[in-house]
Amino acid sequence: MSAFQKETVLSVRHWTDSLFSFTATRDPGFRFQNGQFAMIGLEVEGKPLMRAYSMASANHEEELEFFSIKVEDGPLTSRLQKIREGDIILVGRKATGTLITGNLIPGKRLLLLSTGTGLAPFASLIKDPDVYENYETIVLAHGCRQISELAYGEHLVDGLRNHEFFGPLIRDKLVYYPTVTREPFRNRGRITDLITSNQMFDDIAQSGLDIATDRIMLCGSPAMLEELHAMFSARGFAEGNHSQPGHFVIEKAFVER
Ligand code: A2P
Repeated sequence: MSAFQKETVLSVRHWTDSLFSFTATRDPGFRFQNGQFAMIGLEVEGKPLMRAYSMASANHEEELEFFSIKVEDGPLTSRLQKIREGDIILVGRKATGTLITGNLIPGKRLLLLSTGTGLAPFASLIKDPDVYENYETIVLAHGCRQISELAYGEHLVDGLRNHEFFGPLIRDKLVYYPTVTREPFRNRGRITDLITSNQMFDDIAQSGLDIATDRIMLCGSPAMLEELHAMFSARGFAEGNHSQPGHFVIEKAFVER
C-alpha cells in the first residue's frame, strides 16, 4: 500500500493573489484529530512532491479542506495553486501534530493565536464540539499584513455563526479577533504586541493573561512563535507535548514554498 492516498479536488477558492483554499474527497479510513497536519501534495514527474499541511476541516466532516499560500517559484505551491475541481492530490495516510487539546492541561479560556495560513489548524479546532465543551471561552486571533488576507477566516467564522448547531455555541463562546499590521483596520498591530500590551484583552473586554485559566495554541510565522514562546515561558507557562500536557502548544505554519 502506498503511503499516499489519491483524493479528488472538489472545489478551489482563491482569496487573494497569495492565498487559496480547496476541498477534496476524504478516504473514510483517514483519521485525524482536529488541529493535526498531514503530508499532502501532487505527483510531479512520477514522484510525490509533498509538504505538511494542517487540515482546516474538522474530523467529523466528510470532505478535507486545506488553506494555502501561493509562492510563484515554490516547488509545490506554484503547482498546487493551479489545481481545479476533478484534479487528483495526494494525501499522506498518517496525521500528526501537537495542536491537539489533549496536549493541554485543563483550563477555562483557550487562546488560538495565528498569523497567515497558521489559521488553518484553528479552522479545524473551532468546528470541534469538544472544544466548546471543554472551555468557557475560545479566542481566535489572526494576524495578517492586509485586510484582504483575513477573508478566509472571516468567511469561516461567519459560516459558523449562521450554522444551525455551531451558531448558538459560537455566540456564547467564540471571540474572533482579526488584526492587521500594514494598513488601517479596527484592530491594528502584531499579536505579540497586542498581548504584551494587554490591548487584545482590552479590545475584547476580557481579563488579561492568567496562567490559572488560559491555555494557548500557537501557529504561524517562526518569528511570532519564537517571541511568544519566550514571553509565555518567562511568565511561567509550560510548553505541552504528547508525553506531558502543558499550558501552551506550538506548531509552525509549514508551507513556505
Ligand atoms: P508585520 O507586517 O509587522 O511583519 P507574514 O505575511 O510575513 O507571514 O506575516 C503575517 C503577519 O505576522 C503580519 O501581520 C506580520 O506583521 C506578522 N508578524 C511577523 N513577524 C511577527 C512577529 N515576530 N510577531 C508577531 N507578528 C509577526
